[in-house]
Amino acid sequence: MSWREEALEVRKPTHPINKLMLGRWSPRSMSGEPISDEELFSLFEAARWAPSSYNGQPWRILYAKRDTPEWPLIYNLMVPFNQEWTKNAAVLLVMISRNTFEHNNKPAHTHSYDTGAAWMSIALEGATRGLVVHGMEGFDYDKARTTLNVPADYTVEAMAAIGKHAPKEKLPPEMQAKEVPSTRKALNEIVFNGKYK
Ligand SMILES: Cc1cc2nc3c(=O)[nH]c(=O)nc-3n(C[C@H](O)[C@H](O)[C@H](O)COP(=O)(O)O)c2cc1C
Repeated sequence: MSWREEALEVRKPTHPINKLMLGRWSPRSMSGEPISDEELFSLFEAARWAPSSYNGQPWRILYAKRDTPEWPLIYNLMVPFNQEWTKNAAVLLVMISRNTFEHNNKPAHTHSYDTGAAWMSIALEGATRGLVVHGMEGFDYDKARTTLNVPADYTVEAMAAIGKHAPKEKLPPEMQAKEVPSTRKALNEIVFNGKYK
């Protein structure tokens, strides 16, 4: 059974949805194999077509492939827990987003929301291709800004690790226990007809 099929066994939606959403999850176990630029750039292409307010496209993606000079720039930003499992990723990326619109320099209230949509596009395109795409906030945001030359009018949003899946036995024992697809809150906890309750 593939890691995506495993999720479909565990995750039972209360209303029918596309299996793509249920089969995407965030394993940590990766093989250490590289992924081709062809495949990587298809993931970036998926981000490119995300929707955004005024089609402002505020997302920017800073990436590093394993065994390249750029890798330590991003790898060294992470907390030790994330370094432990991402050492077997093929690619690390940092997503940043522009806080203002390019056309008038006014605040872009939804820039983070838009960049979140781009991140999800990467995650879903990756899952479709059988690639692990795992989001991260466990890293030093200030260090990311200076190390990666992030301009003042951009927000550092989040990181992600991308790679080829491996059996959970490749992880340290304490991480193996957490290597299971998660469930979710009930719909009535997150959806309100009219006012917030
Ligand atoms: C923005 C973001 C930040 C996250 N940060 C981390 C992290 O630093 N380390 C980690 O191991 N997982 C991290 N995760 C993974 C989440 O814990 C995971 O997505 C969540 O538990 C839901 O599980 P699923 O993605 O398997 O459906 C992050 C996910 C997102 C979207």
